[in-house]
Amino acid sequence: MISTLLGGLTAKEFLRDYWQKKPLLVRGAVPGFGDWLDRDSTVALACSDDAEARLIANADDEWEVRRGPFEPKDFKRRKDLWTVLVQGVNLLLPQGDALLREFDFIPHARLDDLMVSYAVDGAGVGPHFDNYDVFLLQGRGKRHWRISQQKDLRLRDDVPLKILSHFKSEQDWVLEPGDMLYLPPQYAHDGVAVGECMTWSIGFRAAPAQELMEGFLDYLQERTLLPGRYADPDLKLQKHPAEIGNAMIDQVADMLSEIKWNRSVVRDFLGTYLTEPKPHVYFEPPQPALSFARFTAKARKNGVCLDPKAQLLFAGKLFFINGEECEVDAADREALRRLADYRQLSDLAGLGEDGLSLLYDWYCDGFLQA
Ligand code: SIN
Ligand code: CO
Repeated sequence: MISTLLGGLTAKEFLRDYWQKKPLLVRGAVPGFGDWLDRDSTVALACSDDAEARLIANADDEWEVRRGPFEPKDFKRRKDLWTVLVQGVNLLLPQGDALLREFDFIPHARLDDLMVSYAVDGAGVGPHFDNYDVFLLQGRGKRHWRISQQKDLRLRDDVPLKILSHFKSEQDWVLEPGDMLYLPPQYAHDGVAVGECMTWSIGFRAAPAQELMEGFLDYLQERTLLPGRYADPDLKLQKHPAEIGNAMIDQVADMLSEIKWNRSVVRDFLGTYLTEPKPHVYFEPPQPALSFARFTAKARKNGVCLDPKAQLLFAGKLFFINGEECEVDAADREALRRLADYRQLSDLAGLGEDGLSLLYDWYCDGFLQA
């Protein structure tokens, strides 16, 4: 971690006093930061097919929201106040991926992505809150942030984006390049560009219970097979043919009580759910792929590194990569944990034959490179 990132706090102190509790402003968090992208390169990213981009513009409180991919002409000769936001910049820009790694003091399981915005002077996306923990790192230019811990999170219903109806600023600052503001989820904020402005948002997902439940039920459904079929050989004549009888309710309740899950099912669900690639992410298998022998020789010499798009998490002996689960032998676990933590593994000495063939499978899938 860059020593200035948390303004003199250790990661432990930050987690204890600020994380999910209160905002933190850090002046000079990343000294000299801000030059990796500018207006043209951000617009170019927003125009590429593999980017997830949005354009948010307003003129006299008339708001417009559009989703990409865009064409360069979409950004030319605009008279309104516009912002272009590009998600997943960590997948598009190697420095973006490196920046995310500076935030390794938060578990990878919480990490979402790096978003970059470019705004013209006076533009912003309106006062709102996010369901994310976010570090807002100022790139080029300046942004005037106003924030509030207000509990009134009602939204306007007359605009096509989430804007608070009653935003009452409690604190404000102008952030300059390299300054950073941490905000816990649901903390109201409004950032307005002072001159041309670029903001880099390092976001950490804090999933709503509803979303977890939906994902869990999908997961469970795919892995549960209930035997048998509804049967009523003892059916009694009902007074009302339209009534759903008690015997039917009891029998179906018994059938459904066979749906079983426990803590390890929850663990497996989390592993696959959290590493599931986003819909627009796809992997490119090597063409042509090295043979196993050549791959291991190369990997022993150079080490291996995960593809920036790959997500590798583990829990005990289980490793989860891009929505897939695999059990790893005790002997191979330590090396693979290092690969998961640091996203690269320079020394393959600790790996046995099974571990190496797992790496080879992942290489063939395009999940890692040697
Ligand atoms: C922006 O970069 O324009 C918005 C970031 C945010 O408010 O979350
Ligand atoms: Co926000």
